[in-house]
Amino acid sequence: MRIDVVTIFPDYLAPLDLSLVGKARSAELIDVRVHDLRDWTVDRHRTVDDTPFGGGAGMVMRPDIWGQALDDVMVGPGSVLVIPTPSGQSFTQRDAEDLAQSSQVVFACGRYEGIDARVRERAVARGMEVRELSIGDYVLNGGEVAALVMIEAIARLLPGVIGNPESLVEESHGTAGLLEYPVYTKPAQWDGHEVPEVLLSGHHARIARWRRDQALCRTANRRPDMIAALDVAGLDRMDLAVLAEQGWQPENGTLTRELPAAQ
Ligand code: 6GU
Repeated sequence: MRIDVVTIFPDYLAPLDLSLVGKARSAELIDVRVHDLRDWTVDRHRTVDDTPFGGGAGMVMRPDIWGQALDDVMVGPGSVLVIPTPSGQSFTQRDAEDLAQSSQVVFACGRYEGIDARVRERAVARGMEVRELSIGDYVLNGGEVAALVMIEAIARLLPGVIGNPESLVEESHGTAGLLEYPVYTKPAQWDGHEVPEVLLSGHHARIARWRRDQALCRTANRRPDMIAALDVAGLDRMDLAVLAEQGWQPENGTLTRELPAAQ
């Protein structure tokens, strides 16, 4: 797989040389290329932005410079253009899984008030798949950090990048639709804090049940939206009992929480 990042701050992408992504690049499991948008400018000042039509604060990135850059960087019809923006759809594990199947993903990192909307429009008109994606409900100064986040989420799904693919199975936001259970290691007693007894028992079925209960309780407390999205058909009687204790009842194939008592 090939990943391209176009930015006015190529140095911001230096972490791509490190850790898991860095190793995957060295092993030639992914081909990551970072480009300086200013290489496509033609004026003496290497200008990439201009004032917004319609007025208002800030600057907008020029379509002509971006258009030429993307024409040169995007290699084929199977390429996906990702535009990181706080006004995009939420980036999820499903997006990471989809993008990990692409032959090329190009990240167009905007700064200032964003990229002229015709850049997206033209890419769509030319048959490209374009996704405007946000990494959360807060505002960053540019798309670079968001691109780093998405690249790490994608890269770790590629074959051979993670040593033990089993570790991809049970983790949070996997197919179970639950957050991961808490984990412990040695020493069994540490500064007056103990490891839950069941984990030392060697009883595999009880351990699996305890972990599932923890995952259910944790998800119910931290992410009620994820409980509401569960398919009841995928839950057993013990799951339903744990969720009932948290106030969740099955209703037409999904779970609902009883309304707080009216005043
Ligand atoms: Cl993708 N870009 C920027 N600039 N801010 C963000 C974001 C992206 N996602 C959340 N905040």
